[in-house]
Parts: sequence; C-alpha cells; structure tokens
Amino acid sequence: MSVGGAFVRFENVSFSYGDGPLVLRDVTFDLEPGTFHFLTGPSGAGKTSLLRLMYLAERPTGGAIRLFGRDTVSLSRLEAPVVRRRIGVVFQDFRLLPHLSAFDNVALPLRVASVGEPEIRQHVGELLAWVGLADAMDARPRTLSGGEQQRLAIARAVVARPDLLVADEPTGNVDDHNAARMMRLFQNAHHYGATVVVATHNAALVARHGYPQLHLEAGRFSIVPA
Ligand SMILES: Nc1ncnc2c1ncn2[C@@H]1O[C@H](COP(=O)(O)OP(=O)(O)OP(=O)(O)O)[C@@H](O)[C@H]1O
Ligand SMILES: [Mg+2]
Repeated sequence: MSVGGAFVRFENVSFSYGDGPLVLRDVTFDLEPGTFHFLTGPSGAGKTSLLRLMYLAERPTGGAIRLFGRDTVSLSRLEAPVVRRRIGVVFQDFRLLPHLSAFDNVALPLRVASVGEPEIRQHVGELLAWVGLADAMDARPRTLSGGEQQRLAIARAVVARPDLLVADEPTGNVDDHNAARMMRLFQNAHHYGATVVVATHNAALVARHGYPQLHLEAGRFSIVPA
C-alpha cells in the first residue's frame, strides 16, 4: 500500500501506553526527505514516545503513520523489519552491547544484513575514524567515556546508511564541547542525505542551529519554524 510522497507522515496520531492516559494527541506533521528537525518539549511531554512510534517500537492508538510511502499499520510481520532497517536510532541510554568491542557493536547491523567482511572492515573502520574512535576499535563500551559511548552509538546508527536518523536526547549527559561535536556528526549524516530528528532539552543548542522544531507540550503538538 504505497502512498506517494509521505516520507514521514503523522496524521492525527494519538498514543497511550496500554489503557493509560493519552500521552500524545492529534499529532500531525510531514517530514520532507532531507530535512533536519529538533524535537523539543519539557520532560514527560512525549518526545521519546513520539520517536518510538516513528521507529516502529510502538503502534499509534489512533490516527496513521506513514513511512517511506507506506502505511505502517498495514505492514506485515515480514515487512516491518525491512522498513525498520531504513531507520537509524541513537537511544538515550545508548544500548551498546557490553560484551562486544566498539568495532563489533558498529559492525553488527551490517552482519545482520549479510554484508561481506572486507566491506565491513573498511566501512566500520572509516566510521570509527569519523567519530574519533579509530584507536578504540577493540575497547568494550564500558571502558569508554560517556561522550565516546555516544559517538559509538551514533556510528552504529548510521552504519547501514539509514534514510531516517533519529536521536533521543543525545546531548543529555555530555558537556558543551561533546554536544557540539555530536551535532557536527548529525549534520554530516544530514549532508550525506539522511533525514534527521534530534530530541533535545538543550535550548542553547536549538538556538544556535536554525532548524525547525517539532514541539510537544503536555502531549500537544506544534511546529516551530526555523
Ligand atoms: N513505558 C511506559 N509506560 C507507561 N507510561 C509511560 C511509558 N513511557 C513513558 N510513559 C509516560 O508517557 C509520558 C511521556 O513520556 P516520554 O518518555 O515520551 O516523555 P519525554 O518527552 O521523552 O520525557 P523526557 O524529556 O524526560 O525524556 C510520560 O507521562 C511518561 O510517564
Ligand atoms: Mg525522553
């Protein structure tokens, strides 16, 4: 069921966890391919919930979500992972695999996609250099600093060249220097064609960069133009 356009489209989306209260109501927006948006709003406003809907970790309670021209509600069990693989996610808590090296954490999505080892070695090596972790390939995540773990999570999120890159509070626990560095990585991914959504509390970061905002306030949604 392909719907022309509709790269990312939320239509009158409402959402609640189980039979709890609505955490999102009447959320409607369109993201054109190649755009960069911040997702802002106070703690508890529903940013993580909105992102979880966008990367298919949750289903809307009401309304419709279209991704890459597809109505996500009608995706079959076989189709959903195919759509999901076009989305790179940077989780607030990183979710790096502790028993794997930095290299293997980033390589994992490529191994799942059956990419050949020589290509994996080259591509992952380049990516680790890009995020400033060329010397930490063999390191376990817990031996890395918070900023390094976040950069590793960004490398993993972009390794399969996602069409859509979403990040949940990536600047939450890092200093300004690391936040700026992370923004450059997202801008770089954007430059290479990814559509990017970055949820953040960091008002200074939002003010410094002229990107439009998807804004949530107690589940109510608005768009703040650039
Ligand atoms: N798994 C869950 N089960 C039930 N309620 C949840 C769950 N996760 C979040 N909520 C509730 O949904 C609402 C929105 O939470 P959400 O995590 O999406 O907000 P947020 O904007 O990401 O907040 P923060 O800035 O603190 O990360 C909150 O009231 C929260 O308590
Ligand atoms: Mg959150």
